[in-house]
Amino acid sequence: MPTQPQPPNDLYRPERPDQFMTQLTRLSRVLFFSLTLPGVRRSSRLPTPAHVPAETPLTVRSRRDLAPDVAEFTLTAQRPQEPLPAWQPGSHLDVILPSGRMRSYSLCGDPVDTTVYRIAVRRLANGRGGSRELHDVVLPGTRLTARGPFCTFPFAAEPTVLFLAGGIGITPLLPMVREAARRGLDWHLVQTGRDHASLAYAAELAALDPIGTRITRHCYDIEGYPDPAVLLARAPRSAAVYCCGPTRLLDSVRRTLSAQTDRGLHAQRFTKDSVAEGAPFTLRLRDGTRLPVPADQTALDVLLDAYPAAPRSCRQGYCGTCRIQVLDGTPDHRDHLLTSEERDAGALLPCVSRAEEGTLLSIDI
Ligand code: FES
Repeated sequence: MPTQPQPPNDLYRPERPDQFMTQLTRLSRVLFFSLTLPGVRRSSRLPTPAHVPAETPLTVRSRRDLAPDVAEFTLTAQRPQEPLPAWQPGSHLDVILPSGRMRSYSLCGDPVDTTVYRIAVRRLANGRGGSRELHDVVLPGTRLTARGPFCTFPFAAEPTVLFLAGGIGITPLLPMVREAARRGLDWHLVQTGRDHASLAYAAELAALDPIGTRITRHCYDIEGYPDPAVLLARAPRSAAVYCCGPTRLLDSVRRTLSAQTDRGLHAQRFTKDSVAEGAPFTLRLRDGTRLPVPADQTALDVLLDAYPAAPRSCRQGYCGTCRIQVLDGTPDHRDHLLTSEERDAGALLPCVSRAEEGTLLSIDI
């Protein structure tokens, strides 16, 4: 079996949250306990201020079309040359839109340029409205607010790297590719999409690959849906694999890699939060309103329809931003953050956690 080069231990851990998330976790625990001390009443309404990260006012400096349904927005501080909070490849920004909706978008610019953030957004005609709002309403000069950046998909800069991008999933990978090129790593990118016109950032990527040997493009209209084994064969078996795209791509790559126990996968989905083994249940609010949670949606998705500005960030059960309080019912906790004491005290992270099929979860909202 080939020996995989070992990057530093503190880097090569796909599931590990970054330092910011770790500190946020610690902070949220301290705040949780301080807010649940006897005699201290915890706020029961969304948003819970203690869990809302600092906000940065931004202005849209420019917009350009990258593909028929993909637009890139360049954002600056309201004083354009003022430096913005730093970030690293794999980070995302929570953008609060003029309507109050909040959506998470990967940063796809260059972290070396501290005066701008770039995000690219695919317009989803049948989505929940955030991408339509950005495409249809947000123009140069529009003021937005952002929380973050947060990094839930860190790049560990292993010596040999394979990047697999599906559609708009190129956005978090672009800064990683740029960083890999800057560091002189041995990298390869497979960019997949429904047709050539849908492959964003072709020119920018080509500039990172002047000899033209490091990028492969795969269009479904000509070649059909990609075989994950063929995609993975684009790089040596020792390569670390970073994949971002729709659930179908990610799941097929994950299944293929699961047979190769010496390989790790760093992955981020680029769809709505997917639900594994979900079953329908119902949230009941304090005023008696019942919100059904379908099997294929998260409780957070359902809350966001009712409360578009409901706090959230990682949407993976790591950060605690979305925490709510359960008053009655038995949760199915699926997060990576809460202690058993916190769960016993009624805390719930609705971005991942649920309830048994057909049951009612009463929450303090
Ligand atoms: S949004 Fe981060 S734990 Fe729910």
